[in-house]
Formats: sequence, C-alpha cells, structure tokens
Amino acid sequence: MEIHPISGALGAECTGVDLSVLSDALMFEIKTALMDHQVIFFPNQNLSTVEHRDLAMKFGTLDIPKFVPPFEMPKVKGHPEIYQLLKEKDDQSINIGGFWHADVTHRELPNKLSTAYIIDAPDYGGDTLYSSLYLAYETLSEGMKSMLLDLRAVHTSEMPYGGKSVRSPAISRSQVIAAEEFNFDMNNVEKDVIETSHPVVRRHPDTGRQLLYVNRGFTSRFEGMTRAESLPILDYLWRHTERPEFTCRYRWSERTLGIWDNRCVLHCALNDYYGQRRLVHRISVNEDERPSS
Ligand code: SIN
Repeated sequence: MEIHPISGALGAECTGVDLSVLSDALMFEIKTALMDHQVIFFPNQNLSTVEHRDLAMKFGTLDIPKFVPPFEMPKVKGHPEIYQLLKEKDDQSINIGGFWHADVTHRELPNKLSTAYIIDAPDYGGDTLYSSLYLAYETLSEGMKSMLLDLRAVHTSEMPYGGKSVRSPAISRSQVIAAEEFNFDMNNVEKDVIETSHPVVRRHPDTGRQLLYVNRGFTSRFEGMTRAESLPILDYLWRHTERPEFTCRYRWSERTLGIWDNRCVLHCALNDYYGQRRLVHRISVNEDERPSS
C-alpha cells in the first residue's frame, strides 16, 4: 500500500490496494494508516454493498443508526447498517452533515469511525472537510490546557448550536437558501433529547494521544455550568478546532472509499453542488468503551 498525505495536518490517500480482497496483513496496514493520518481515502475501488459492510465489520460493532427527525435517511434495503447520504440534483435544501461535527457524541458510545463509499460524485463540489482534534489540543496555551483538563462537557441530541445558524445556506453561486426557506424544524428533535457527558480533554484509546473533544454539533455546555457560562469558552474552542491549518479537504471521485476516525476528527460536508447528484453509502462502527481522559 502506498500512502500519500494530502495536507500538513491530517489525511492521506492510499493506493495499490484492492479492498474487496481483505487479508489480516492488509487490515493491519489500513488500521496503522488510519492511526497515523486520522482520515484515509482509497480511490478506484470496486466494492459491492456486502464487501463494503464486511470491511466496516473488521473495525468492530456496526451502528444501526436511529436518527431523530429531521435527519431520517433512507436505508439500503436489507442493510439497516447503511445510511444513504443522498442529495438529488434538484434538491435545494440543506445536506446531511453540512457543519463541523463529530458523529453522535451525545451517546455514551459514539461512533468510533465511519466508512463512506461514494457511488455518485458531483463533477465539482461536494468535498468534505476534516480537522484534527489532536492539533486543536496540542496548540492550546498551557493555561487553557490546564483549565480544561478536569472538565467534562454535556453533549446533547438537541443540537442547540448545530442548527440553522451554522449550516451553510449557500448551495451555489446563484442559489442561496433564505433562512425562512429552511425545511429544518429544530423543535422536532426536542422530544427525543439524549444527553451524555464526556471529558473535554480526551485520550485516544489506541494512540494514547490527548485531543480536544468538543464539537459544535452536539456539545452544549460544561458539566456543572450553565449554557450561558459555557458558551463563550465553547465558542472559542469550536472556532479553534475549525482553524484552516488543522484541516484537510477531500475532493471525492466515484468509487472512492473514505474512513475517518470519529474519535479524533471533526468533519463538514460542503453543500455547493446544486444541480448535481451526490450519493454516499456510509457505515459507522461504535466505540468499544466510553471516552475517557
Ligand atoms: C456526514 O457523515 O456527516 C457527511 C459526510 C459526507 O457526506 O461527506
């Protein structure tokens, strides 16, 4: 397997492998590359649905996603573990994941990682951004690090800061969604609110590295503090995790398989391909243990 880093922060493209033929040696190489680069991409694959599922199963227990409205997404028939992230060419609405977040951190066992296989890629646009939570932590001042060290944060499915305000309304240069046109009712999510607390400074269970474990999709406040007290610091930390020099940007082509480590990476899917179809099959694997410091 050849590994080609795609930015100074994180991310690598891996070539010279066929993911439909998995050996223990290849899985070891893939897991090592994921630990080293946090998000990895395998262009020019030819995976059936079952082969994609079998690859994801090598990383642990598959998530059977239960999203609350308005995030209900079509599943592939017979495969409840596969999300179809589909946006049709005439769909003028928001996309799935069009804001900086890690997946489902409101759960006790969030997703460990996701595998995304691109079936239909736009000719341009529809890139995904990733950012390194290792770099975000390592570049904080010593004063901020020690203040955060013993804090826990509450993560909630209510997504108070992951709503309209942070989802880019621009879908193309000539198509911009006005706020009142959003088909996005945050009141819908209130009835199933799930809250969990996690350490703000987390240690990665496999690499042992410390990382800044907050994201504006799900983190709502510090434990023992009000939202109003928490928000100024959280807002600083979110903007810090989104600094361009901590990120990479990937341009997808059809039949590319991507894997991101949801424990140490945020992601943001750009909604800038109006007039083109984008279809991704995503499978997520659950964490084995609760996040710890
Ligand atoms: C997501 O999983 O949040 C979206 C990923 C993508 O469509 O690139």
